[in-house]
Amino acid sequence: MLQILPSGVVTVAYIGATILFILALGGLSHPETARRGNLFGITGMSVALLATIFGVVTENYALLIGALAIGGVIGITLARRVQMTEMPELVAILHSLVGLAAVLVGFANSLDPSVNFEGVELTIHDIETYLGILIGAVTFSGSVIAFGKLSGKISGSPLTLPARHWLNLGLLLIAIWYGREFVLASASGDDGLMPLIIMTVVALLFGIHMVMAIGGADMPVVVSMLNSYSGWAAAATGFMLSNDLLIVTGALVGSSGAILSYIMCRAMNRKFLAVIAGGFGTSGGSAAGGGEDQGEVVAVDSAETAALLESAKEVMIIPGYGMAVAQAQHIVYEITQTLRNKGVNVRFGIHPVAGRMPGHMNVLLAEARVPYDIVFEMDEINDDFPDIDVSVVIGANDIVNPSAQTDPDSPIAGMPVLEVWKGKTTIVLKRSMATGYAGVQNPLFFKENTRMLFGDAKESLDAVLKEL
Ligand code: TAP
Repeated sequence: MLQILPSGVVTVAYIGATILFILALGGLSHPETARRGNLFGITGMSVALLATIFGVVTENYALLIGALAIGGVIGITLARRVQMTEMPELVAILHSLVGLAAVLVGFANSLDPSVNFEGVELTIHDIETYLGILIGAVTFSGSVIAFGKLSGKISGSPLTLPARHWLNLGLLLIAIWYGREFVLASASGDDGLMPLIIMTVVALLFGIHMVMAIGGADMPVVVSMLNSYSGWAAAATGFMLSNDLLIVTGALVGSSGAILSYIMCRAMNRKFLAVIAGGFGTSGGSAAGGGEDQGEVVAVDSAETAALLESAKEVMIIPGYGMAVAQAQHIVYEITQTLRNKGVNVRFGIHPVAGRMPGHMNVLLAEARVPYDIVFEMDEINDDFPDIDVSVVIGANDIVNPSAQTDPDSPIAGMPVLEVWKGKTTIVLKRSMATGYAGVQNPLFFKENTRMLFGDAKESLDAVLKEL
């Protein structure tokens, strides 16, 4: 048996890593301190990894280092390859790995003959193991489906099985029943493998059903909810392995994910439980259909767009997912500077679920070095639109869709949106009349004061900048 670092040093390192993780979360709460927060996180994770690797009591360092090397190479390759627009998918699939790890650790722990508990301790340990595998399996299968939905491999529309709430309730009752069976079997000296396997299958089905039932526009809540679940799965693994750092880190991820889910729900005017129950917007009113004709649209070219912008006093830029696809943030900033030099007041309005992940637009604008003081949250600027001369909607669709307010049958009904149509003129940059993530047509495009600038956002804006 070999242990390089003494236990005392490992404990101190764990406390240090915990503090660094808390500082990281604090830093990440604001764009200006996000970079520092990230550094705290990286340092904390390095300390945690080193303390765990060198503090572990093992004879089998070769296996440990081999697994670390394989995992590290896969992680680095994935992170280098992934495009910014694919980040949400990467996050979803990484959550699934946390879930899978919790399931595997749970089974290994339950079958490990060297784990010996008796009486109450055994029961507590069994409940930890059972919960760890349960949360892990739901996180795993749910995240795989979320990955499929975010990457477009699985349809975004909600799957609504008849009596789906009863089905969920049934699965929950089965999981509770087999939990009892597992604890009783284990107490009588059996390994309780059968109840564990049945519960794992049930939990996997539950995860699939839960995420399949959620409609496209509600995916932001699911992604942050699975983030939270992955934290709780890690915390449960920490209990199983008696690893304090894993418990604390898991709890930090779990609770911050839960807070994020709450914020997302508020931003989308949804009730958390209703989103989880799924099936939003399935009444499928006229808007849900997609590309039906709603009248004429007025197209403009880059010269007309430049002229409109130059003659404006107040300009509001609304970025959306299409700006991320086109990687247009740098050119957006060049246009902003040019207009500001000409005395135009340019501001940015950010919808809380613009793009495909929380803070997506803020990250892109920060990358292009857009000053934070001209970037505003939806709540801060939504009342200002009547005073705006030109709103420029760059690759955004659902977040500026007036039918969220007017069509109760729309899948995005009730979601607060940026009220661009109240301004004097709106210019929408997109490639076609295609719908956005929620798959609903947007009456904004057909309004009298809306102009469409068709084409890839970066190419269109390049042309506009030349004209300016
Ligand atoms: P969307 O409604 O998805 O609209 C994006 C628009 O960008 C599309 O209509 C597309 O139209 C256009 N586009 C795509 N590539 C483009 C390019 N290269 N150049 C110009 N335009 C391009 O995006 P949004 O308004 O940002 O709304 C976000 C949606 O995603 C919401 O429904 C939200 O619920 C959902 N969602 C958000 C998150 C988070 S946490 N933010 C997570 C999951 C899902 P064309 O194809 O015609 O160009």
